[in-house]
Amino acid sequence: MTLSNEQLILNQLHDRTARVAVLGLGYVGLPLATIFAEAGFNVIGIDPDEGKVATVSRGESHIQDVPTEQVARLVAAGKLHATTDFSVLADVEAVSICVPTPLRKTGDPDLSFILDASAELAKYIHPGMVIVLESTTYPGTTREILLPQLGEENNLVVGEDFFLAFSPERVDPGRTDWTTLNTPKVVGGITEACSEVASTWYAQALQDVVPVSSAEVAEMAKLLENTFRMINIGMVNEMAIMCDRLGIDVWEVIDAAATKPFGFMKFTPGPGLGGHCIPIDPLYLSWKLRALNYTARFIDLASEINTGMPRHVLSMIQDALNEQGKPLKGSDVLVLGAAYKPDVDDLRESPALDVIGLLEQKGARVFYHDPYIPHLDHEGLEIDSVPDLMEAVAEVDCVVIITNHSSYDYPAILGAAKLIVDTRNALGEAGRNNTRVYRL
Ligand SMILES: NC(=O)c1ccc[n+]([C@@H]2O[C@H](COP(=O)([O-])OP(=O)(O)OC[C@H]3O[C@@H](n4cnc5c(N)ncnc54)[C@H](O)[C@@H]3O)[C@@H](O)[C@H]2O)c1
Repeated sequence: MTLSNEQLILNQLHDRTARVAVLGLGYVGLPLATIFAEAGFNVIGIDPDEGKVATVSRGESHIQDVPTEQVARLVAAGKLHATTDFSVLADVEAVSICVPTPLRKTGDPDLSFILDASAELAKYIHPGMVIVLESTTYPGTTREILLPQLGEENNLVVGEDFFLAFSPERVDPGRTDWTTLNTPKVVGGITEACSEVASTWYAQALQDVVPVSSAEVAEMAKLLENTFRMINIGMVNEMAIMCDRLGIDVWEVIDAAATKPFGFMKFTPGPGLGGHCIPIDPLYLSWKLRALNYTARFIDLASEINTGMPRHVLSMIQDALNEQGKPLKGSDVLVLGAAYKPDVDDLRESPALDVIGLLEQKGARVFYHDPYIPHLDHEGLEIDSVPDLMEAVAEVDCVVIITNHSSYDYPAILGAAKLIVDTRNALGEAGRNNTRVYRL
């Protein structure tokens, strides 16, 4: 009796003889590749970036959350490989796509990485393959973009010959309590068989798989999660601006509200949204809705408030210096923290870049310090992190705390600085009612 493609791949997944490929060895792909390898699969990471491939092949990690010792052990055991050569897909049964989904300069989704990955896959797709898209994108991408190129153009029937699903990645870089391994993983297939095959695969390696009825539900669930965060951050940022006008301490207000044991979730204001997800993903949704003649008003409003925060911070710095009788032009300003959030080395969409750019436009002499980012090279901006943090803190006219890395000695910074603009309440109580400190 010949087995169906579905039965064949299910057997290979259960006994872990299915060979796995992860397309894209970045913040999402490398952790996922190591988890599949730890579960006993033979895993190959495919990435056009020769540097990343060489690093993994040497048994090293370029991702903060993945220990080099783990990559070294898996590579030495022959469970994890890396290559730039997509032809290895011909010998692979299970593929996870973890490529970037940025925005174009125009603010529209840039699906070129998904399209490139899909074009490579289409060359090597074969019956019995299961393919899961992990990249965050608008609802409909898996069915409208991947399915025709992988299925129809190769005369393969989805759900019978091959299996296609979407499963959003929820990794929160730098976090240790909830990781890719134990964060529940939503999986939605193009057909019921696709859901079953993809969920079976992921359940071999991840602790909690949550099957849903379609790829679109899985795609939309991710956008609900990230839109929820973006809108709540926008709301609390506006709350900070309103409190400023009213002369009320927003941080005390938030702490007071957060004592409510139900019906409230704490969000904190800041200098703007950063990272590869929260500022970008909801715009994929609003773009898709615009094509259907619908305006996603909450997203537009939150986006407007959040993108205005760096300018709000700029005016806080100007006001703070003004109180000291100093113009911003010609003043020395030290930005503390360039990463988009504490204790990570990720600069993507960081509001620090906007604040530094605005300060330079206004004629300030800008310095920065970040223990995780020794050098900034972004759209014409090129600076090194100051070598001696405390010396710089003492010398400049104003210190601006943009990212509250936990390694900073805040009492020492408060003691040494002439003037501080604290956009994260990093100084806490010590910064309150201190005439040298201006808090968001
Ligand atoms: N970083 C996060 O915290 C996070 C969290 C949840 C979801 N996501 C989503 O996951 C996806 C990947 O994000 P990331 O942070 O890992 O990005 P990343 O930039 O760190 O990694 C993506 C990798 O894909 C590679 N790549 C580009 N084109 C490719 C191709 N055609 N084939 C194979 N590899 C290719 C790149 O060289 C890069 O190494 C994005 O859609 C993102 O929105 C990211």
